[in-house]
Amino acid sequence: MAVAWPYASGLRHIGHVAGFGVPSDTFARYHRLRGNDVLMVSGTDEHGTPVMVAADDAGESARDTAERFSRLIREDLRELGLSYDLFTRTTTANHYRVTQDLFRTLYDKGYVVERETLGAFSSATGHTLPDRYIEGTCPICGFESARGDQCDNCGNQLDPTDLIDPRSRIDGTPPVFERTKHLFLDLPAFKEQLTAWIDSQTNWRPNVKRFSLNFVKELKPRPITRDLDWGVPIPVPGYEEQPDKRIYVWFDAVIGYLSAAIEWAAVRGEPDAWREWWQNPDAEHTYFMGKDNIVFHTVIWPSMLLGYGDDGEYGAGRGGLELPDNVASSEFLTMEGKRFSSSRGVVILVRDFLSRYDPDALRYFVSIAGPETQDTDFTWSEFVRRNNDELVATWGNLVNRTLQSAYKNFGSVPEPGPLTDADRTLLQAIDAGFDTVGELIEAARFKAGLQEAMRLAAFGNQYVAEQAPWSVLESDRERAGTILYVALRAVDSLKVLLTPYLPFSSQRLHELLGYDGLLSGPLEFRDVDEDDGRKHVVLTGDYESWLGRWEPSSLPPGQALQEPQPLFVKLDPEKVVPEEIARMREAAGSPEDPPADADAA
Ligand code: MF3
Ligand code: ZN
Repeated sequence: MAVAWPYASGLRHIGHVAGFGVPSDTFARYHRLRGNDVLMVSGTDEHGTPVMVAADDAGESARDTAERFSRLIREDLRELGLSYDLFTRTTTANHYRVTQDLFRTLYDKGYVVERETLGAFSSATGHTLPDRYIEGTCPICGFESARGDQCDNCGNQLDPTDLIDPRSRIDGTPPVFERTKHLFLDLPAFKEQLTAWIDSQTNWRPNVKRFSLNFVKELKPRPITRDLDWGVPIPVPGYEEQPDKRIYVWFDAVIGYLSAAIEWAAVRGEPDAWREWWQNPDAEHTYFMGKDNIVFHTVIWPSMLLGYGDDGEYGAGRGGLELPDNVASSEFLTMEGKRFSSSRGVVILVRDFLSRYDPDALRYFVSIAGPETQDTDFTWSEFVRRNNDELVATWGNLVNRTLQSAYKNFGSVPEPGPLTDADRTLLQAIDAGFDTVGELIEAARFKAGLQEAMRLAAFGNQYVAEQAPWSVLESDRERAGTILYVALRAVDSLKVLLTPYLPFSSQRLHELLGYDGLLSGPLEFRDVDEDDGRKHVVLTGDYESWLGRWEPSSLPPGQALQEPQPLFVKLDPEKVVPEEIARMREAAGSPEDPPADADAA
């Protein structure tokens, strides 16, 4: 499982984690519960213009900016319970080695070719000016602050040479354009293979397939080097000595999926273990990302893999590396119809969100109302409504009333008497959820899977309301015990069905039901030593010790229950909504976060 690498250029907002984070984690946790082997990797994307722009704004080096945001981002992801097997970074010695091996191999095989282009340089300093550092008037709509890569007003992609009146964002001087040499990936060489491969995909989301097929119709060689000093050095004669040319950030970032697997294997002390994933046709490769990342994953990365073949240090004679099996791209999360943007104050940071609300409340909203197949609007009132009317009123309420009543009257899981039809109907419906919810998650239909689990929770509530165990307690204690036993078993099964979505509350419930051990446990940071003597920190976890299984409850009668505690917090809309809106207004004016495809050109 390959999850998009967030830029270490700023704090991540809830749109990011709605796009790649929560869906990928739900998928990973489900497969682990099923007993399948999972390797979920990602890391911070630390090179290129996005990080350089952020560094400039903060008045620090790109390395320092990357370092700072890499740490903050991995803390946020951990708080949200995103269970990466390895969440690493693109600035590691391992990543450089793997990236350079792919670059060199593609070059040696003739898939990387030199071309001359027009590059922009600062007339004041002589330094190169990346596209995003250049501002000018849009030739299409006349907007005066269009950037060298795109116009934020009309949305068109631009080249710096298109701008009218171009000037440097740094000092306002006009850039000079000079001919400069770059290396290009020969995408047209893969056109036929790509077309056939994309065409043969049956389980991709239709928009992903359509978009990718369209894109390969007009493939052009694509520059994979940049006039920058922040990136992986270019391991090719004539380029390796140049301090101002580096590998393009997108070229190195996608290689992260492979390099992170290699690092994961090394950290485990089984240096060849990554081959089980990358050189094994039975391994399913599922990629998670926002829609602005699609071509990089369905066209460019596959071209790199096809071109690399079974050569190079990591391909060597063992058959090629695996292409993506599925590319689950999400749409955008908007806020009152607008794209998230820090500069316009349209932003909700994961960090701020989690300082006030539970991670499962965010995970619930993103899963049930997130941008899975269409752009979706986040509003605070909708967040509060979903939290109160669904999470608290349906699932939380079922857990609470069942546990309260069982704990107070029996103290442990009651011994059931004979089951009635109504009892069996409920238990059968919930058992069937393991197939229906499971199939939906496997198909990356997370919203539908959660809706189904919540429908079953509502059915549980209806059962408890109809059977009203509290009203038969006096007259027929055995029947009351049976009803509560059935309800507790339903709750115990629903706990598992909801674990991929709501791991924190499911773990708490697991304990309230009297179980020991970790249904899904904590994530941890670990230091990794690099062979050049440096160290870096990764997010990982000991998931093999998790004891949850994707199967119906076998709750043992007599198991002692813990004193019930509410799983979720009800939010006051009169308070939360106005307060949050005021906070967002205040946040306007913080430095802009570059869009994900900042220098995708
Ligand atoms: N950093 C990119 C973004 O935020 C995503 C990179 S994904 C990878 O949009 F493929 F490059 F890893
Ligand atoms: Zn424009």
